[in-house]
Amino acid sequence: MKVLITGCAGYIGSITSKICLENGYEVIGLDSLCTGFKENISPEIDFYQGDISDYKILSRIAEEHPDLKSVIHMAGFIEVAESVKEPEKYIENNFAKAKAMLDKLIDLKFENVIFSSTAAVYGMPEKQEAIMETAELKPINPYGESKLLFEEYLREQSSKINHIIFRFFNVAGAYGDLGECHQPETHLIPLILDFAMQKRESFALFGNDYPSHDGTAVRDYIHVRDLAEAHVLGLKALEASSASEDKNLINQAYNLGYGKGFSVKEIVEKVQELLEIELDYAIKDRRPGDPAFLVADSSKALRDLGFQPKFNEITRIINDAYLHRKQHWERFSRSPVTS
Ligand SMILES: NC(=O)c1ccc[n+]([C@@H]2O[C@H](COP(=O)([O-])OP(=O)(O)OC[C@H]3O[C@@H](n4cnc5c(N)ncnc54)[C@H](O)[C@@H]3O)[C@@H](O)[C@H]2O)c1
Repeated sequence: MKVLITGCAGYIGSITSKICLENGYEVIGLDSLCTGFKENISPEIDFYQGDISDYKILSRIAEEHPDLKSVIHMAGFIEVAESVKEPEKYIENNFAKAKAMLDKLIDLKFENVIFSSTAAVYGMPEKQEAIMETAELKPINPYGESKLLFEEYLREQSSKINHIIFRFFNVAGAYGDLGECHQPETHLIPLILDFAMQKRESFALFGNDYPSHDGTAVRDYIHVRDLAEAHVLGLKALEASSASEDKNLINQAYNLGYGKGFSVKEIVEKVQELLEIELDYAIKDRRPGDPAFLVADSSKALRDLGFQPKFNEITRIINDAYLHRKQHWERFSRSPVTS
């Protein structure tokens, strides 16, 4: 079977491409390389460089792969703070361009789409309990809004193309040569690892007065390899539904996390334990819009898709990220990090 993966040069897209290849899929990749890395693209992928909204490229892909019916759409911008400063950039790339792509894929007779959405669509949940897919969708920043707009468009188009929406919680870890490398990096595990490896001058923990056991915010970290494997299950569910009348598992949203939260302080402590060092970090005020507690209830993915996490051990997640960062720091650092 074939699958088109947009964002295949990025962190999650490159690892999802690798896992799809390992599961016997032929992978066709589309990425503009606006934030991704050419080194992340395996020679086994039939790679097209271009924008997701470029009709000519989409037509060429369909012409050259007439049996291609499924897409995993991972391309997008991901920085929450940047989205607050430049909301149009996010609405344009994550919604308007994705919508243009979907319209074209429907014209080209694609049948299945898996969309990388985010826990940011839930906004600031009030209760400290694992979030179910039925929770209120109330994003509080343009990044979350742009993702929710595309989710809604997918639901509107579900009579023309089948979909699965995966709402990722905090994705972390690495797979061999492939790992996280965002510019700027804003995610906790790479930031604290950079500080620990003296690649970053300072590290601040934001807020120690949250209503949690140690006062710091709690998040659900999922290993990128488990997340990528869930996409293979999603593809299989979509492919099976194309061949039958049973549409129960598709045209649905699924949370992807482990249902277990770690506080920022606990992550810092795990890094200290793993690397056997003491870190002298700063504590600053809470950042506006950071919820106290974001943990997934992923029981729907476990039950319906047979999602079975294999790497759900926080030390494994941090260690894989560390090995990747240590090995590839020079290769991936485009500019010196000073803050
Ligand atoms: N990293 C996380 O923890 C996380 C959490 C929740 C959701 N997500 C979602 O997962 C997806 C992948 O995230 P990531 O961390 O791998 O990001 P990334 O920045 O590493 O990868 C995104 C890729 O998309 C490409 N891209 C962006 N806009 C494009 C366009 N218009 N046309 C073609 N290519 C384009 C970039 O060049 C890059 O290679 C995103 O959609 C993101 O919203 C990520």
